[in-house]
Amino acid sequence: MANVVVIGAQWGDEGKGKVVDIYTEFADNVVRYQGGNNAGHTLVVGDEKVILHLIPSGILHEGKRCIIGNGVVLDPEVFIMEITKLKANGYLKDDSMLRLSESLHIIMPYHKRIDIAREAKSGAKKIGTTGRGIGPAYEDKIGRRGIRLMDLLDEKSFSRKVKEILDEKNLILTQFLNDKPFTFEEIYEEYMGYAETLRKYAADTSLLLHKEIRAGKSLLFEGAQGTLLDVDHGSYPYVTSSSTCSGGACTGSGVSPREIHEVIGIAKAYATRVGSGPFPTELEDETGEALRQAGREFGSTTGRPRRCGWYDALVARYAVRVNGLSGIAITKLDVLSGLETVKVCTGYSYNGQVLDEVPASLEVIEQCRPIYQEFPGWTEDITGAKSLAELPENAQNYIKRIEELSGAPVVLVSVGPRRSETIVLR
Ligand code: GTP
Repeated sequence: MANVVVIGAQWGDEGKGKVVDIYTEFADNVVRYQGGNNAGHTLVVGDEKVILHLIPSGILHEGKRCIIGNGVVLDPEVFIMEITKLKANGYLKDDSMLRLSESLHIIMPYHKRIDIAREAKSGAKKIGTTGRGIGPAYEDKIGRRGIRLMDLLDEKSFSRKVKEILDEKNLILTQFLNDKPFTFEEIYEEYMGYAETLRKYAADTSLLLHKEIRAGKSLLFEGAQGTLLDVDHGSYPYVTSSSTCSGGACTGSGVSPREIHEVIGIAKAYATRVGSGPFPTELEDETGEALRQAGREFGSTTGRPRRCGWYDALVARYAVRVNGLSGIAITKLDVLSGLETVKVCTGYSYNGQVLDEVPASLEVIEQCRPIYQEFPGWTEDITGAKSLAELPENAQNYIKRIEELSGAPVVLVSVGPRRSETIVLR
C-alpha cells in the first residue's frame, strides 16, 4: 500500500479537490498537514455541492479516517460548523473517523482581528491574506506563544497562556491597528464552549498514523495551496505561512519521510494566481479573461477573481525539484478547448539572458519576460475522452510537451469537473 502526498504544483487552486477525491479511494487515512480553513475544496457529491475548508474531503467516504495533523492551525468555530453540516447531511456517523492532533495550534480571536486590521492598514502592499487569522496563528507558533489543542483542553493551562499573551495582543490592536481590545472573559467563555466538542476528536495523531502504517494501512496526504506559496520555497513574501511543499507532509504530521512512496503534483493546463506577487505568464488581456470565464476562476473561499495566464514550465520544473514529484496530474485541459493558439512558457528573458530555472530573487522574477512555445489549439469537446489517444492530436502534443519540459511523467489528465471526466495514465 503506497503512502502518497498530493500537493499543488503552482499557486494553489489547481483542482486538487477532485484529484484527492480520486486518490482517496485507495487510501485508508487522509491527512491534512498544513494551512487552516483557507483551503476550500468544492466537491460535487451526487447532486450536492459540498464546500469543506478544513476537514479533508475523505470524510465523505465511509471507512476513511481523516486526520488533521499538528502542522495545521485550527479555527474551532469553523471546525464545529463543518462537523455540524456534515452530520446534518448524514456524514461522520462515527466520530472516531475524524482525529485532530492535540499538538495543532488554535486560531484565537485576536489572530483574526489582527489579520484583518493589518491587511486593511497595509494599502498597496497587501499580501492578499484571507483574513482568517492563519498567518498570525503561525507567527505565535514560531514565536513559542501559541495555544495548542492540548492547552485548550486543559482549562488551567489555557487560562494562564491567554492571560500571558493578551496584554501584548491588546497593545498591538489598540496602539498599532486602531482596533478594539479583547477581555479575557469573552475569550475564555467562547473557547471553553468549543473545548467540549473538540475533546472527543483530540489524539496523538503521529502515533495513530505510525500504528496505521505498521498495520499495513495507507496514507494520503492532502496538501493545500501550492508550491509557489510555500513559506520557504515560494515567492516570499507573497506566500502563505505554512510549508505547502511535500516536506511539510512529514513535519506537519509526524510521519517519517521514509514512509512516503509517491509525491503527485497537481498543475492546471494553464496557470492562475490569487492575490499579489510575481506571475510572469499572466495575461491581462481578453485571452486571460476567456480563461477566467471558461475555467470559472473565482476563489471558492473568497469569490475573488483569479489572475490567469499560460502554463509555465519553469514553475513546473521547480515544483518537480523541490517536492520530488514522482508524477504530475494535469487538470482543466478542457478549459483550453476552443482557443486558436495555446502557449507554454519555456524560459524567461532577463537582461538579455535566457533563464531556464525560476530565479530565487523576487526583483529578478519581476523583470523576467516569458519566452513561449506556441501550439495550434483544438475546438473539439474533450470532456468525454477516456485515453490520451481519444484527445485531439493538438491536445496530445500539448500534454507531451508539458511532460518533456516539466521533467516528471504526467500520470493523470482531468478533462472536466466530474470524477468520470478523467484520463488515468498510471
Ligand atoms: P485549493 O486546495 O484551495 O487549492 O483548492 P483546489 O485545488 O481544490 O481548487 P479549486 O478550489 O479551484 O477547485 C477546482 C474547481 O475546478 C472545482 O470547481 C472543480 O469542480 C473544478 N475542476 C476540477 N478539475 C476540473 C477540470 O478538469 N475541468 C474543469 N472544467 N473544472 C475542473
